[in-house]
Amino acid sequence: MNTLKDSFGRSFPYIRLSITDVCNFKCGYCLPNGYQVDKSDNRTFLRAEEIGRLSKALSELGVCKIRLTGGEPTVRKDFFDIVKLIKSNSGIKKTVITTNGYHLDKIASKIKESGLDGINISIDSLNRETFKKITSHDRLPEILRGIEELQKLNFKNIKVNAVLLRGVNDSEKDFNEWSQFIKNNEIDFRYIELMQTGDNLDYFNKYHVPATKFTDYLNKNNWIIQTLGRDAGPSKNYINSEFKGKFGVIAPYSKDFCKSCNRLRITAKGDLRLCLFGNTGINIRHLMQTDEQIEELKDLILKQLNFKKESHYLELGETGLTKNLSTTGG
Ligand code: 5AD
Ligand code: SF4
Repeated sequence: MNTLKDSFGRSFPYIRLSITDVCNFKCGYCLPNGYQVDKSDNRTFLRAEEIGRLSKALSELGVCKIRLTGGEPTVRKDFFDIVKLIKSNSGIKKTVITTNGYHLDKIASKIKESGLDGINISIDSLNRETFKKITSHDRLPEILRGIEELQKLNFKNIKVNAVLLRGVNDSEKDFNEWSQFIKNNEIDFRYIELMQTGDNLDYFNKYHVPATKFTDYLNKNNWIIQTLGRDAGPSKNYINSEFKGKFGVIAPYSKDFCKSCNRLRITAKGDLRLCLFGNTGINIRHLMQTDEQIEELKDLILKQLNFKKESHYLELGETGLTKNLSTTGG
């Protein structure tokens, strides 16, 4: 039973939990100058035990899926301990991660062993030079090797995300390359429409392109839209019987995007964020300190949900608290 409900009738079986703000990439739309320590905030990132208690509380509130994000979650030395803790103690059914995929070739077998239920890897381009330009890192080969490694180990539920960028990765050629990639690969590939944040206004104006650029291509090439499961992410998926993988589109500016919102976010320092872009949300970390506090923690999360707003109001140019997406993992 999912007890987490807001005043607009939406329920929340899905939590995105950031475990660190640190990221080693410099994606142009997110951290073009790399990760910088926030000197105005000396709080540490959530400890593994705190994350363990939080997951237990969330599971008791009916949450069935937790996505670990960053920053880059795998930069944490205790990353696999955290996964183990959630998988073994909390009652959460699915634990998945979003990663930029660096050193994936090296950690693929540990990922498989950890029992993670899925992985989303960000790859903005299959062209090595373009990839390097966007992320400032020449690491596409190790990421692709990592994916092959995971597939050899029979790891299921691999997804790849790219942010759609005008003139960078939005040509028919790019789309065809991704088609080839998913033709014989059981991998879902999704484009995310670039979102405006507090930090990236110039970048946004230069590179934003509506997701219809890609959906037009899908419609033209006989891809058929699919209906969604209850704990599904925000992606609209498309299938085609000639392909092993699926295509998907995440279009946050589309009409009614927020109507199907089924997720909450918790930052690496323990702030509950009701919306990626809302400036509502409070710190709940003080109630993750002992096992006896779990009931109180559940109550606080439940009460906060009443403050969740109907929409992100992004179309009005509202970016809320969000300077960039590195603290909330997109
Ligand atoms: N707009 C769209 N997607 C973004 N991401 C990060 N910043 C933005 C943005 N401004 C994406 C990353 C990754 C996921 C975690 O969020 O590329 O796929
Ligand atoms: Fe790092 Fe992800 Fe931001 Fe890129 S989008 S800089 S990988 S947090």
